[in-house]
Order: sequence, then C-alpha cells, then structure tokens
Amino acid sequence: MNYHVNEHIKNTVRVFPMQNRYGLHRYDMNENPEGLPKEFVDSVLQEITPEFLAIYPEPDRFLHKYAKFIGAEYENVLTTNGSDMAIRYLLETFGEVDKEVVTVAPSFEMYWVNCCILGYRHVPVVYEPDLTIKIENILNAINDNTRIVVLLNPNNPVGNVYTEEELQRVIARAKEVGAIVIIDEAYHYFYPNTFLNYALEGENVVVLRTFSKLFSIAACRLGVIISNPEIIHYVKNARLTFDANSIALLFAERILDHPEMVEELIRIENEGKAYTLEELQKKGYECRDCRGNFIFVKPHHDAKEITKRLEEEKQVLVHAYGNELLKDDIRVSVGSKEAMQIFLDAFFEVDAD
Ligand SMILES: Cc1ncc(COP(=O)(O)O)c(C=O)c1O
Repeated sequence: MNYHVNEHIKNTVRVFPMQNRYGLHRYDMNENPEGLPKEFVDSVLQEITPEFLAIYPEPDRFLHKYAKFIGAEYENVLTTNGSDMAIRYLLETFGEVDKEVVTVAPSFEMYWVNCCILGYRHVPVVYEPDLTIKIENILNAINDNTRIVVLLNPNNPVGNVYTEEELQRVIARAKEVGAIVIIDEAYHYFYPNTFLNYALEGENVVVLRTFSKLFSIAACRLGVIISNPEIIHYVKNARLTFDANSIALLFAERILDHPEMVEELIRIENEGKAYTLEELQKKGYECRDCRGNFIFVKPHHDAKEITKRLEEEKQVLVHAYGNELLKDDIRVSVGSKEAMQIFLDAFFEVDAD
C-alpha cells in the first residue's frame, strides 16, 4: 500500500534489548542485579489500591519532594518516562532537522538513535586509542549548526569524566552558537561529583537523572530533567500530558523518604565493585573502573565468545561490544558482593585457559 512513512523513521535501524532475562544473572544493562530490599517493595505495594490505579498520574507531590532532595525548586524539575523519554523531549524541543547534535562516541546509543528518528545530524567525537577524549575535539565539533551538545558524566560505556574547567569551556562554546548542553548524570551517586549547579544557574544547561540505576526501579521508568525554569517550561510544552506513571512516582517518593536505604544501596554497590575489581586484578586481569555501576574487564579469550558462553553455560549476562575500541572488553554491571561472586565464579571458570 502506498502510505506515507516519515523518511527519517523509515531509515532508522533499531536493535532492541534482549527479552526473557528474568531468572538469569543480569550484569548486562547496568541495572541493580538484585533490586531493592523486598520488605521495602512489599510495603510500597500495599499502597496500590483500586482508587490509586483509577486516578491519572499526579507528579507534583513527587516533584516538590525531589526538588528539595537535590536542593532545587519545583520550577527546576520535570519527570519523564525514564531518561529515555527525557532525551527524546530535549532533542525535539531544542534540536532542528538537518542541524547537529554533538556527542562523544561510543556513548549511550539513544542519543544517536533519536537523531536518526528526528532527522538530525549526529556528530560523533571519537576517543583516542587509550580511551581518553580530547576536550579540544569536542570544542572543535561545535559550530553554528550545533543545536545540542551532550556530555555523559561519567560516559557510558567508557567511564571518562569531565573537569569543571572542561565543562565550562563546552558551555561557553555552546552558548556562542546558541546550543544547549545536556549533562547526563545517570550514574550519579556511584560517581559523586555533579554539575547540577550549572543546570540551576546557567542559561543553556540541562542535567538528566534516572531512577533506573542506583534507585533500582528500571521497570517503573522514571527520569528527571533538571534545568532553569525557562528550559523546563519549553520541555513541559513538548511532553505528553501523563508521562511518568503513578507507580513509578509512588516508588520514587518512598525511596526519597528512606535516605538510609539510599545510603545503604551506595555502600553495597561500592563494596561490590571494589571486591570485583580486586578479585579480577588478583588473577591478573586488566580492568577499568568506569565510575558508574559498571566496569570493563579484558577476558583472556575473545570477548564476544566469553559473553556467549557465560550466557549459555552459566545463565550470566554481560555486555560485549562490536566497536573496534572496546572489542576486547566486556562490560559488567556491579551489585552487592554476593551478586558479584556469582559473576566471578562463572567468569573464572569460563575464561580459564
Ligand atoms: C547514560 C545513560 N542515560 C540514560 C539511560 C537510560 O535510562 P532510563 O532507564 O532512565 O531510560 C542509560 C541507561 O543505561 C544510560 O546509560
């Protein structure tokens, strides 16, 4: 049939995540392998009544609480259906067809996927062979056609971070050409530094946070956009009326009500990461702390082959890359020491000489 299909969407090639991961040992998507404490989940579920489910989502109570939690105002924050949706809204609002979006490469794929969907030009700034990125290369990639510059701090997957001075140079250059700067802080709390103050005080800066990583509710889909009230206003114009759902908002609110649980999550994951790196290094493995809830390790055997064998023989999921720079590494999400012992036992066996 001769129907119209948006040309950009027609030409976009998507790879969707693997299914049937329940019951497997999941270290492949930077989730918390074990999730939140069961008693906490049970107590929140008690609050889900027929009335609760019958009412459309009301994000404001959460937004007030979250704003206070991060030291901002209600006008500075906006919820989205995962930061996935935040990325779409920001690109729709501040991008332009045939104009440019600058990111480093490799990076979180949804930035370039959304560029394809929307018909924007993605400008990838590549890493050096030693996995460092030259800030000059990012600055040189910004020109009059740039509408958006994206920095992930730390970047997923490489794990590099930016200094305050580097960020200031990028923001200043973006300002010269009228571009906004998105700082994706999905891995905040694992990496404690933040550029939040630039989002609150600057004219052209947005910080993204997610509840999928430390807060461990990837299933609920909750992201937060943080910026000045003008930017938040424009994104509000772009968003669906009901975006983040009530179950996500309820869980997120209760998480914020329990700062001691948040502290414990940070402690457990940091301990698990340190333990994993130490055990791998003891056995002579080359590893990299990617500063989020994930690490790289170079197996002795082919990374893709080890990934496949871990899945088939041990029901252990990790992530391997086709990218030339990362083809010898596997990315392993980290959780508690107990969760990581399962990975380590399986990995040492499968990768044995
Ligand atoms: C840097 C980065 N941003 C955003 C996301 C997406 O998070 P969400 O689950 O909130 O859509 C991820 C997920 O891995 C990520 O690594």
